[in-house]
Amino acid sequence: MIKGVVLAGGKGTRLWPVTKVTGKHFLPVGDKPIIYYPILTLKKAGVKDILVVCGPEHTDQYVKLLGSGEEFGVNLYYTIQVEPKGIAHGLGLAKSFSDGKKVALILGDNIFGDEFSKDFSNFDKKNSGAAVVLKRVPDPQRFGVAKFKNKKVERVIEKPKNPPSDWAVTGLYLYDNRVFNIIDNLKPSDRGEYEITDVNNWYIREGSMDFIKAKKYWIDAGTFESLHQANLLVRKNRNFK
Ligand code: DAU
Repeated sequence: MIKGVVLAGGKGTRLWPVTKVTGKHFLPVGDKPIIYYPILTLKKAGVKDILVVCGPEHTDQYVKLLGSGEEFGVNLYYTIQVEPKGIAHGLGLAKSFSDGKKVALILGDNIFGDEFSKDFSNFDKKNSGAAVVLKRVPDPQRFGVAKFKNKKVERVIEKPKNPPSDWAVTGLYLYDNRVFNIIDNLKPSDRGEYEITDVNNWYIREGSMDFIKAKKYWIDAGTFESLHQANLLVRKNRNFK
C-alpha cells in the first residue's frame, strides 16, 4: 500500500499580498479550497494514509479544515516543516510515516484532471524505482523540464531559461523507500533549497524512472495567472466533486 504525502508548506510569496495572512492552499478553486484537489487526487488513486506537511503559520487551520480525513474517506496525519527548505526537504519529513513503504508525493497547489489509479497500482507492483507525471505546457520555464535524448528523458532541468522541451514535470511523484536515503545525501541548490529535481535525476541516472503522461488538464495554482486559469478550467470541466 502506497503512503501519500501532500506538501502544503512554503510561503506562497508569488501570491502576495493575498497570502500575507492566509495560506495559498486555502484559496478557492471552483467550490473548494486548493488543498482539497491534491488530497482527492491521491484518494482517487487508491491512497488511504496521507501525511499533510504544513508550514508552522497555518497548522491549526489545516487541522480545522481537513480534520481526520473522514470527509474524504482517507486517514490524514499532520507534520510541520518549520522552514520551507525545499520540496525534497518536505518529503524527507515523511520518513518515519512511510514505514518502509513506497510513497506518492503531491504538491499542495497542483490540480489534475486525470485519475491515476492504474498508474499507482502498476507502480505498486514494481520492486523499486520512481515515476513522475509529465505534461506538455506553453510556459515550461516555470517548471522542472524534461530533456530528451533519443526519445528518452536524459535528465530534468529545474526552471531552465532556455527549456530543452515543453514537457513539464508536474507535482506528482512516486518513489520507492530509498528516496529517504537519497534525500539525506542531497546538498542544497544555488537557491538554497533541497530540490526534488535532484532526486528525480538520481532515479533517471539509475535507469529506474518511469514517465506517466497526463492526458487531461494540469495546473499549478501558485501564481495569480495560474490561479485564475485553474478556476476557469475546473469550472469548464465541472470538476466539483
Ligand atoms: O508544480 C510543479 C513544479 O513544482 C515542478 O515542475 C518543479 O520542478 C518543482 O520544483 C515545483 O516548482 P514550484 O516553483 O512550483 O514549487 P513551489 O516552491 O511553488 O512549491 C510547490 C508546493 O510545495 C507549494 O504548494 C508549497 C509546497 N512547498 C514548497 C517548498 C519549497 C512546501 O511545502 N515546502 C517547501 O519547502
